[in-house]
Amino acid sequence: MVIIKSEREIELMKKAGYAVAQAFKVIGEKIRPGMTTMDVDSIVEQIFAANGCTSAEKGYYGYPANACVSVNEELVHGIPSKSKFLKEGDIVSVDLVANYKGYMADACRTFAVGKLSPNAARLVKVTKDAFFEGLKQVVVGNTIGDISHAVQTFVESNGYNVAREYTGHGIGANMHEDPSIPNFGKAGTGVLIRPGMTLCIEPMVMEGKKDLRVLPDGWTAVSRDKKLTAHYENTVVVTSNGYEIITMYEGEE
Ligand code: MF3
Ligand code: CO
Repeated sequence: MVIIKSEREIELMKKAGYAVAQAFKVIGEKIRPGMTTMDVDSIVEQIFAANGCTSAEKGYYGYPANACVSVNEELVHGIPSKSKFLKEGDIVSVDLVANYKGYMADACRTFAVGKLSPNAARLVKVTKDAFFEGLKQVVVGNTIGDISHAVQTFVESNGYNVAREYTGHGIGANMHEDPSIPNFGKAGTGVLIRPGMTLCIEPMVMEGKKDLRVLPDGWTAVSRDKKLTAHYENTVVVTSNGYEIITMYEGEE
């Protein structure tokens, strides 16, 4: 069941979205070789607290950290660690969900550590651009399948694959609500897009084959072929004349 949000609920979600965006801003300024993925988690914890938020990830089905920090072949749900050091050329997906007074916002950025190889840089750019291709389909009267199809077509035409096991989703008082928003599918199918829907659109893109496996930690999903992966996500509010992104900071490209 898709839950249409009230103005008041959307205001609370925007506060959560602001905290997520501020965390990205600070991480973008601070990320460098020699930092650990736990250092990224600490930044998130601090920025969320400063904005009246808590991490909705911590404790979610027992998830042990404030952030998901996934490096290179890790696609999603990388658990921050004091012994995992970032190095020049790494790509680091930081996936965050803030909770403000019971309402949530969810977004992800894939950050570059120092200078990237041309391959890595292209993967990160295509993944971000895929989000904006999907976003163009957020029009009242279109369907969720239109978003899915646009993301898949764009990613595959650039020679990459979309992951199948993880999808975008609705969000609100729960991290994951209907509708599910796969990164693959047929145009014109699925739930109709209506004002007041709050959607997480999140391309998860694989440089190599689409097959994944979960590491023995029970969380970290990695590409089986160990090729690079990238992830970009925003929480989007559907409005009568389009959409509003609530997880980007002022001046963010
Ligand atoms: N942020 C992820 C999503 O996009 C989910 C995080 S799972 C958690 O849906 F366990 F870390 F919370
Ligand atoms: Co999400």
